[in-house]
Amino acid sequence: QSAEKEGYDHYMMKEIHEQPETFRRVMTGRLHEDAVTFKEFTLTDEQIQNWQHIDIVACGTAYHSGLVGKSILEETLQLPVNVEVASEFRYRNPRLDAHSLVILISQSGETADTLEALREAKQRGATTIAITNVVGSAISREADQVLYLWAGPEISVASTKAYTAMLIALYLLAFYLGDRAGRFNLADHKDLLEALAKLPDQAESLLTEAKKEEIRQHSQALIDADHLFYIGRGSDWAVAQEGALKIKEISYIHAEAYAAGELKHGTLALVTDGTPFVAIALQEKTFEKTLSNVNEVVARKGRVLCLLKEGHDKISDDLDKRIFIPDCLDMVAPILAAIPLQLLAYYTAEARGCDIDQPRNLAKSVTVE
Ligand code: G6P
Repeated sequence: QSAEKEGYDHYMMKEIHEQPETFRRVMTGRLHEDAVTFKEFTLTDEQIQNWQHIDIVACGTAYHSGLVGKSILEETLQLPVNVEVASEFRYRNPRLDAHSLVILISQSGETADTLEALREAKQRGATTIAITNVVGSAISREADQVLYLWAGPEISVASTKAYTAMLIALYLLAFYLGDRAGRFNLADHKDLLEALAKLPDQAESLLTEAKKEEIRQHSQALIDADHLFYIGRGSDWAVAQEGALKIKEISYIHAEAYAAGELKHGTLALVTDGTPFVAIALQEKTFEKTLSNVNEVVARKGRVLCLLKEGHDKISDDLDKRIFIPDCLDMVAPILAAIPLQLLAYYTAEARGCDIDQPRNLAKSVTVE
């Protein structure tokens, strides 16, 4: 078995390291200099132009990828996008018809609630697109269109490379559909395509021994925590939710993600001397606002580890605990941000002696409803 882990102690670390290669694979043949193509799709322009609303339905980590995908799809298709966990969506009598697009996201393609949501959507006349990693899975067989992640097998229960591949897949899909709908001219947005093309190399730079050691050291401050808060705004909040899930799954620390602007409406009451926070401050638009939330926590003696973009170091000199991701367009920051948060969860779990690849009570694929 250790041979299968290629020298890593756990599948999770192996899969974290596979991300640069995974990024290349999900983009190969799809991302071009001034276009995105999906040869596997059989959608007509008329079908695409006919959609009036979009639902993204998924569970767990896949759901978190949908939260990031929402804003980019809204922008490129100029349609309202609802993101929902499958176990809620399928029981609430969703309003779907021939003007609906439902995107189902599932690494395994076998999650029972997501599969049932797909069946419900089809029955009501929606077009369905599945984003999945497993060829021949139930969801891939039943969806109208399938976008494969080509991330290779993911063994660790906590999802890593499939999650970041889902994000890239959603961006590619948003560009592709927006362009075909005539609402987003990709030729005018070459910078976005270039930003995607740079991701594999940027991901490599987050996986050097030095970078990993830096993050391992930050994890040492978390190992005795009972509670941990992740905060951010906009797509940083989506990143925070996945970061909190990751550490909860494998280290068993109670972690909660909060929209930074909501802190004052409740969570701030829990901040006392030493309460640990991870703040995600990667989006230019909300950077200053998130920093002021960080200061509110610091003023109450909370401890904050900030995830920032290189180049933002000057503004945040007063914050002593910082992790940097490479400078990149705000749009792609969630993809790069995932990597240090995965490592933070990994090293925290390792120091706590947890079973990283097989966390208690959890399964890789949940095939019961
Ligand atoms: C389980 C796994 C999670 C995963 C979720 C959805 O809870 O432990 O890691 O995110 O199922 O799985 P799917 O295969 O549908 O993406």
